[in-house]
Amino acid sequence: MSTSITIPRPDDWHLHLRDGAMLAAVLPETARDFGRAIIMPNLVPPVVTGAQAGAYRDRILAALPEGMAFEPLMTLYLTEDTDPTDVAAAHASGLVKAVKLYPAGATTNSASGVTNFDKVRPVLETMAEIGLPLCTHGEVTDNHIDIFDREAVFIDRVLDPIRRSTPGLRVVMEHITTANAADYVRSQDSDLGATITTHHLIINRNHILAGGIKPHYYCLPVAKREEHRLALRAAATSGDARFFLGTDSAPHTDENKLQACGCAGCFTATNTMPLLAHVFEEEGKLDNLAKFASENGPNFYRLPVNAGSLTLVKNEAATAFPSHITSEDGPVTVFDPGFPVHWKVA
Ligand code: NCD
Ligand code: ZN
Repeated sequence: MSTSITIPRPDDWHLHLRDGAMLAAVLPETARDFGRAIIMPNLVPPVVTGAQAGAYRDRILAALPEGMAFEPLMTLYLTEDTDPTDVAAAHASGLVKAVKLYPAGATTNSASGVTNFDKVRPVLETMAEIGLPLCTHGEVTDNHIDIFDREAVFIDRVLDPIRRSTPGLRVVMEHITTANAADYVRSQDSDLGATITTHHLIINRNHILAGGIKPHYYCLPVAKREEHRLALRAAATSGDARFFLGTDSAPHTDENKLQACGCAGCFTATNTMPLLAHVFEEEGKLDNLAKFASENGPNFYRLPVNAGSLTLVKNEAATAFPSHITSEDGPVTVFDPGFPVHWKVA
């Protein structure tokens, strides 16, 4: 017996594509299933200006295999030197769909991020005026704050003050990992949304640390306790318009992951949609998959839902996903949920 579900073609509202050989390797993995993606700007050096975002967009489109349709939605990396005029022009031309806030040092390639939030005040005010969303990496970087508490502390110390002092600023809390974040989103108005990754619906911190350290499950923000994973599942599958898919698929070569000091990031582009079908079915909420993956995101970003569709089929046999994809830089391990998945993109 096989079951199937058809949803509008989904989008990924938080994606790392990198550049060069890695871009060429990972782009088809996303373009196969997704119509659009919000492209993270944390290249080295970061994508800071409208001109840099335009050039990066051209490189992405040049790397897209013949016959594949995919629209990269570009973002700017917010620095203390970001020019509000440049941001407004990049938005007015239709090129840039969001600005990304990384607290300096919070994650991979975030050294140019923000330390003094007063310095970015003029940019945030411009963004509030023109309706350009701010995407936040919601973790404080203070070494005195336990890594498992950094998201909750960010809400109190950074996010809530920014939102209070910048009325009208539209914000996406990216890759939320805690019940605190889900509750905060629900307590606010529709100017606040949140993305949730595939892997945070599947793993908790035991998966990383119990029975031997599993570098391929290490990402930032780090997965939290089981109660938080369950809160994320409830939020993602609820149909609530403020929660939508952002995979945070973040490719690193195995060489860079399997280190004494390994990189943070889970690579989920290849199997995200079947994994989500599994999760939503497990929660008895398959009917809400379209909202989470295809509708809530465009509605928040004030873009049309994609015209095409994606069909997922559930088979008796478990789906065989590739264990890794190859790139000229080396292999990239595909996220392994640790249980058999019977869903497959038709
Ligand atoms: C991301 C990356 O590798 O660029 N890593 C991650 O663990 N998610 C950066 C980020 O989004 O934090
Ligand atoms: Zn990310």
